[in-house]
Amino acid sequence: MASFSSILLVLLYVLTLFNVGYGGEMESMEDGELLGLFEVMGSLLDDPTWAQVHPQPCTDTPWPGVQCELMAQEDGANGQQDYNPTIFHVTKIHIGTDILTPPCKPTATLSSRGLMKLPYLKTLSLFNCFNVTPFSLSSSLFENNSLSSLEHLALVANPSLHGSIPSSLGNIQSLRVLSLSQNMLSGEIPQEICGLVNLQQLDLSYNHLTGSVPQDIGKLQSLTIFDLSYNMLGGQLPSSFGQLKSLQKIDLGFNDLTGRVPQELGNLSRLVLFDLSHNFINGPLPESLSGLKQLEYLVIQDNPINTGMPLFIGSLGRLKVLSFSRCGLMGPILTSLSMLKNLTALSLDNNSLNGTVPSLIGSLPNLEQLNLSQNNLSGEMLVSQEFINRIGMRLDIRGNNGLCIKNNTSSEVKSPISCVSSRNRTSWNKSSLGDQEEEDECGHMNSDLYQSSWSSKNHYYGYEFRLWLEQMFLVMMFLLL
Ligand SMILES: *[C@@H]1O[C@H](CO)[C@@H](O)[C@H](O)[C@H]1NC(C)=O
Ligand SMILES: *[C@@H]1O[C@H](CO)[C@@H](O)[C@H](O)[C@H]1NC(C)=O
Ligand SMILES: *[C@@H]1O[C@H](CO)[C@@H](O)[C@H](O)[C@H]1NC(C)=O
Ligand SMILES: *[C@@H]1O[C@H](CO)[C@@H](O)[C@H](O)[C@H]1NC(C)=O
Ligand SMILES: *[C@@H]1O[C@H](CO)[C@@H](O)[C@H](O)[C@H]1NC(C)=O
Ligand SMILES: *[C@@H]1O[C@H](CO)[C@@H](O)[C@H](O)[C@H]1NC(C)=O
Ligand SMILES: *[C@@H]1O[C@H](CO)[C@@H](O)[C@H](O)[C@H]1NC(C)=O
Ligand SMILES: *[C@@H]1O[C@H](CO)[C@@H](O)[C@H](O)[C@H]1NC(C)=O
Ligand SMILES: *[C@@H]1O[C@H](CO)[C@@H](O)[C@H](O)[C@H]1NC(C)=O
Ligand SMILES: *[C@@H]1O[C@H](CO)[C@@H](O)[C@H](O)[C@H]1NC(C)=O
Ligand SMILES: *[C@@H]1O[C@H](CO)[C@@H](O)[C@H](O)[C@H]1NC(C)=O
Repeated sequence: MASFSSILLVLLYVLTLFNVGYGGEMESMEDGELLGLFEVMGSLLDDPTWAQVHPQPCTDTPWPGVQCELMAQEDGANGQQDYNPTIFHVTKIHIGTDILTPPCKPTATLSSRGLMKLPYLKTLSLFNCFNVTPFSLSSSLFENNSLSSLEHLALVANPSLHGSIPSSLGNIQSLRVLSLSQNMLSGEIPQEICGLVNLQQLDLSYNHLTGSVPQDIGKLQSLTIFDLSYNMLGGQLPSSFGQLKSLQKIDLGFNDLTGRVPQELGNLSRLVLFDLSHNFINGPLPESLSGLKQLEYLVIQDNPINTGMPLFIGSLGRLKVLSFSRCGLMGPILTSLSMLKNLTALSLDNNSLNGTVPSLIGSLPNLEQLNLSQNNLSGEMLVSQEFINRIGMRLDIRGNNGLCIKNNTSSEVKSPISCVSSRNRTSWNKSSLGDQEEEDECGHMNSDLYQSSWSSKNHYYGYEFRLWLEQMFLVMMFLLL
């Protein structure tokens, strides 16, 4: 089988040479590079005739997943400059949802021998290609100066791509984007990755990586996007993170990280998104985080922070989404939260917050989701009719110690909604709180307000939301760049 396809390749190669020699004096390709492309496509695609159908992929017989660029020819053959000054080089190989025929074959692999012959390749992007036969990245793929022009490597959503990330990947100094998201990669992140000094985006999310975040991550001075979410990474956050002055996104959600957030992270003045959800990070969070002046998304939920609400939150004026659900927060809700005029979602559920809810929370002009459930809050929360209309059922105050909502517009005209009956209820039987008890909790309150329809339909921090968030972020990044 293998020998048959190599015979076929050699045959095609000879045919192609003939073609080029016959009619293609103008602009052509180096034979070795063409052969390398045939080898790579042969190792990936479920179409043994690809090379036959596309004998001149840069000119007469293009294929949408392969791109070439015309470049000045390096003067290897002396004196031939004027005869053939430019030549095509393969610069991009891409297989993804936009390019489906032919599909990758079940036994798809990457031919390192073929890639070695493509020294001008800048983009290698394979989406959902390795699906059946287990395939792993051999270290030889990135050795001996191969792929030395590669800037963009994306191997995404490949269910049979397993094994570890080879340390030789650190040799590809030209890399600007590295995305190995949604594969089955395991093992530790090689320290050598910290040598990729031109890297702007690093996304290793949704794998099975273990070990810790490399200590020297601070060397990646050009990094803007850092996403290691949904892995099994442990250990502490390296303080060298604070050196990454261009960082706009840190997503470390759904890992096993421990320890505290280093003070130095407060130096990340361009950070827009910071997600540490579902880890084992302890409090207190450093007050230096007040330096995150561009922060719009702060997602700390599901960590044993176990302190009072951090004061710095009130100074993050651009915040849109703030989640401290299940963080063991205690004491009062900060009055300074009412300064965060851009806040659209505030989740403080399942903590031990007590006292009253600052009434100005009910006047936050952009708030659309508010979850204060499962705390120890009490008293009246004054809200306007406009607020109630806007937030609808995305308000949840269940499971508190007599917290209720007062409709301020009706207070002058008709009888105000009474909170008294539940406020003086000293021993609230928590275990008896069922599904319909919330009508009790606040007397005449419209029970619609408490229903949690958004939790099932539109779970705010569910997978779909995260995808949406990521898309929005990418769109934003795209607009910025
Ligand atoms: C890389 O070079 C070394 C020594 O020059 C050689 O032994 C090895 O086989 C080469 N690797 C590949 C993938 O060609
Ligand atoms: C980074 O943060 C640390 C601790 O907050 C601070 O001492 C240091 O001066 C900061 N460095 C820079 C370059 O801003
Ligand atoms: C709130 O958002 C608007 C629009 O995105 C922005 O112009 C404004 O600067 C933000 N407010 C603060 C305090 O950052
Ligand atoms: C509150 O969080 C604890 C763990 O922190 C969990 O066991 C419990 O089910 C949560 N309660 C609700 C109502 O989500
Ligand atoms: C809130 O709880 C703390 C103990 O965690 C207690 O000292 C404080 O008095 C409580 N405050 C209110 C208003 O109940
Ligand atoms: C709520 O507050 C009351 C009175 O301050 C206290 O007795 C109770 O233990 C608190 N419950 C929780 C879950 O913190
Ligand atoms: C109700 O609250 C809104 C917004 O907080 C405020 O503009 C309005 O004046 C209040 N109305 C009354 C009667 O207090
Ligand atoms: C709030 O008061 C206004 C005016 O009395 C009334 O129309 C509205 O139904 C009330 N809203 C709720 C949720 O009770
Ligand atoms: C709550 O207090 C009011 C007046 O202080 C009293 O009339 C009422 O019976 C009390 N309710 C309960 C459930 O204790
Ligand atoms: C709380 O409610 C449960 C179930 O309704 C009941 O068995 C229990 O005795 C109640 N506890 C108190 C202190 O009222
Ligand atoms: C609010 O948080 C609680 C506890 O974490 C959760 O059970 C509930 O579904 C949330 N409410 C909404 C409306 O999402």
